[in-house]
Amino acid sequence: MSPLDIELVSVSKSYGGNPVVHDINLQIPRGEFVSLLGPSGCGKTTTLNMIAGFNAPTHGDIRIRGSSQRNVPPERRNIGLVFQNYALFPHMTVAQNVGFGLKMRGASRSDIDAGIASALRSVHLLGFQARYPRELSGGQQQRVALARAIAPRPSVLLLDEPLSNLDLKLREAMRSELKEVQEELGMTFVYVTHDQEEAMAMSDRIVVMWKGEIAQQGDPASLYAQPSTSFVAEFIGKSNILPVAVAGRVGSHSILTVADSPLVLKAQEADERRGVRFCSIRPEAIRLLGRSEDPIDGLNRIEGTIRRRVNLGAHQELHVATPGGIALKVLLRSTSDGTADIGDGVVLGVEAGDVKMLSE
Ligand SMILES: Nc1ncnc2c1ncn2[C@@H]1O[C@H](COP(=O)(O)OP(=O)(O)OP(=O)(O)O)[C@@H](O)[C@H]1O
Ligand SMILES: [Mg+2]
Repeated sequence: MSPLDIELVSVSKSYGGNPVVHDINLQIPRGEFVSLLGPSGCGKTTTLNMIAGFNAPTHGDIRIRGSSQRNVPPERRNIGLVFQNYALFPHMTVAQNVGFGLKMRGASRSDIDAGIASALRSVHLLGFQARYPRELSGGQQQRVALARAIAPRPSVLLLDEPLSNLDLKLREAMRSELKEVQEELGMTFVYVTHDQEEAMAMSDRIVVMWKGEIAQQGDPASLYAQPSTSFVAEFIGKSNILPVAVAGRVGSHSILTVADSPLVLKAQEADERRGVRFCSIRPEAIRLLGRSEDPIDGLNRIEGTIRRRVNLGAHQELHVATPGGIALKVLLRSTSDGTADIGDGVVLGVEAGDVKMLSE
């Protein structure tokens, strides 16, 4: 693993005795793109502000490149910041905005100019030096804010919902640009968002926060494939969460009974843990089976009726009700053959390996 850039050691924060961050332990290696992802109020900004040095932990310690940051003010942490309200200085040109940090540090004129050009090149805005912020689109302003933050070459960049003021298309375009800049400069990014798609698209690692704690962390693919709780399963992507109990085993499968329903599901035994309370099935892991398809070991067959159908363009989302009153969301590619309409009876197929057991 690369050397650690940032370390949070048992960090807690309370406001007036009210705990908002509890005992967070986090290690961020140099050059990693880490997202703090979670719903509003879960403590993301508070955590970021503690790393930046704008507020001090109530307990615990923050280390940057191995050194405790107790009593180290924000300006001495070699950290860059990009926030949601990326307020550029309106009376300064793009070049003056981007060069601001370098100038404050007393860099020479030629170093400032070289730094401005290099930062603007990274965000694809070379040639915009003489413009004023009011002469730029929202996305361009946001890129200038990014250039301003990276120009002094901080080792770490903290970003708090930097794209939330942009429209969807621009947000998606900016995701790739941010990721490119991060990779090109080899900088450590700590990125706060409540948008799981954004976090999935850019991060090497996602730290899912809930109620001031880390609910789970991991690379996007394994978080998606192996959520450890129903909160994570629902927050990262969509999921069908069913309350279940383990009723036994058959062969290499665990048998799950679904609460208040005659539905019985096979799940992969390897996933079994003590205290299974829920299972999660991704909507795209469910397919429509032909009536005559032979039963296969390890494939769950679930009968139901289509109650709703939502056209999402490339996909169709079906809401299927089972006779036992369980509602399942099913995601089908619009081009997949087999049309199904509201009121139709269908047989759904789910591989046992796609029934993930959850302890809470
Ligand atoms: N200065 C403060 N004084 C008192 N309570 C605060 C203060 N700052 C934040 N809080 C509380 O701490 C909790 C966490 O806030 P924080 O801003 O870290 O959430 P967040 O995860 O960034 O949410 P959002 O996605 O809405 O930005 C919230 O309940 C908030 O009301
Ligand atoms: Mg916030």
